[in-house]
Parts: sequence; C-alpha cells; structure tokens
Amino acid sequence: MNRWMIRARERVFGMAPWDAAYITDEWFRAHFEYAADVVHQWMGGALDLRAAKLLNFGCGDGITDLALVLRHGAGSIHGVDIRREYAKLPRIAREQLGMARIPAALTFETIEPCAPLAGRHQQVDGIMSWSTFEHVKRDQLLPILRDLHQCLRPGGVFFLQIEPLFYSPFGSHLRRYDDVPWHHLLASEDDLWRIIETHEGPLDSSEVDFGFADFGVDGYKRFVFEEYQALNRLTADELVDVVQRAGFSVERQERRSVDLPPPLELLERYPPEVLCNNEVFLLLRKEAEQSSLA
Ligand SMILES: C[S@@+](CC[C@H](N)C(=O)[O-])C[C@H]1O[C@@H](n2cnc3c(N)ncnc32)[C@H](O)[C@@H]1O
Repeated sequence: MNRWMIRARERVFGMAPWDAAYITDEWFRAHFEYAADVVHQWMGGALDLRAAKLLNFGCGDGITDLALVLRHGAGSIHGVDIRREYAKLPRIAREQLGMARIPAALTFETIEPCAPLAGRHQQVDGIMSWSTFEHVKRDQLLPILRDLHQCLRPGGVFFLQIEPLFYSPFGSHLRRYDDVPWHHLLASEDDLWRIIETHEGPLDSSEVDFGFADFGVDGYKRFVFEEYQALNRLTADELVDVVQRAGFSVERQERRSVDLPPPLELLERYPPEVLCNNEVFLLLRKEAEQSSLA
C-alpha cells in the first residue's frame, strides 16, 4: 500500500493497532522507550510535535521515529541515512509491536554522505540526530551542518545527541566486545582487533542492532571494528564550535560524565573532563530572521 493510501486509511480507521507488550528485543526497547523519551523531552518543549515537520539525520532503523509517532504523537518525520536499515522497520514493527503497517507519518530516504538536502527539504520545523555525528567524516561536518541549517525554517530547532564520545571510557563503541575502560586509547589497533576477533559468547542485547542478522557473528565483528576506525573523535567542545560555525545558536546543552578515574597515563595526554565526558546533548536554534524595521 502506498503512503497516500495508508494516510487515507488512517484517516478513516486510525493507525494500525500496536502493543508494547510484544517487545522482546532490548535494542528495540532502548530506542522505542529511552531514546524517544529523551528526544521528546528536549524537542517537545520547543515545538508542537503533532504539527511539526521533523527530519531525523542518521535515522538508522527508524525505531525512535516510530516511537515518537506512536508514543508522543509526532505528525511527520522524514528519516535520512546513508544506510537502509529503516527498510527493516515494517518487519520490526510487526515482530516487536504486532503492528501491521508503519504509520503514514513516517518517510525515509537513503542519501549519499554529504549530499545536500536543503534543495528538497525546506522549512523544516525541527531536526534531530541521535548517536550519528561521531560517525560523520571530519571534513563533512561543517558542510552537512550548514545544509541542515538551511533546511530549517527561521526559529526552528535541532536536537543533537552523541554517546559515547570518543575519549570517554567506552568511546570506541567496542564495549560489546571489550569491557576495559579507555582500552582504545591505551592498546594498539592490532591488540583491540585480536580481542574482538577472539571474542566468544553472547553480546549485551541492548547493544546489538538489527543489522547483526545480516552480518553474522564474524561479519558483525568486522563491521563494528571498521565503524570504530572511522569515528571522527569529536569532543563536545569541538562539536559546539562546529555547530556555531554552521550558523546555529546553542539554546541549551548538557554534558554527562562518568564517575571513573582515568588512568594516569591518559591524564598526561588528555584533559580529565575530556576523558570523562561520555555524552553531549545540544538544543540548537536557527535564529528567526530580524525584521528590517527593528
Ligand atoms: C550509531 S547509528 C545511529 C542510528 C540511529 N540514530 C539510532 O539511534 O539507532 C549511526 C547512523 O549514522 C548514519 N550515518 C553515518 N554517517 C552519515 C552521514 N554522513 N549522513 C547520514 N547518516 C550517516 C549511519 O548509517 C548510522 O545509521
């Protein structure tokens, strides 16, 4: 059924029924509940999510978007990503919620890294991005952020979250295989790869996404390690600097830190606040245009 037909059907019969009691997958639960609640807390105060046109940059499998529609009443979310994990969402929604059709409020698009969006997406009320900007290539950060700034209407907001930040204890994103804090800043890449390659046993299910089934055990190890190697190593200060250079003003920010003492060897190389800061939340705004009469 195409989107127009789903919308017409929803107008008459309402959205397909769903039930959170079906949820068995911890990755799904973490996004359907926690991530969506955080996005709602940060954006819901700045926008009427029911009426807002939203864009999710780096939407992944789209579970958070689905939850924003079902649990928080969002009326329109367009997810963009360089991968097509969102194509699994209808199946995931069937398995985890017993939902026959994903809502017409959701649309998705595969993009090339750094391909401009502003030509096609204009006057967006709100943008969100969850655990994505640490994966964007350094030289693409500023062009992408400038393009997202152009997509927003004046006065629109952008909620951006990163966790874990690279220099924090598990900033490698390898924790599912290696539980030693800051190991990626202490061990060689060869040593890290050996730990992953020889890892046996179950992984923390809240850290295993729906891509695992495609890759298999060994393929997933290689995928996760390559993702680690490609991280842009951004700190919270660098992120704030680049979003401001792209034209955003920082309306609100929160930095969370771990309560673990960094190894002395690392304290000689990095500031303690960088080593302990594992998460950053930013609420950014595109300033409303000044009236020429003002
Ligand atoms: C860790 S995943 C997070 C996905 C989703 N936000 C979530 O919370 O599950 C990072 C996502 O960023 C996407 N990504 C990386 N670089 C990107 C880029 N330049 N443009 C758009 N998406 C990108 C990846 O394909 C991936 O889906």
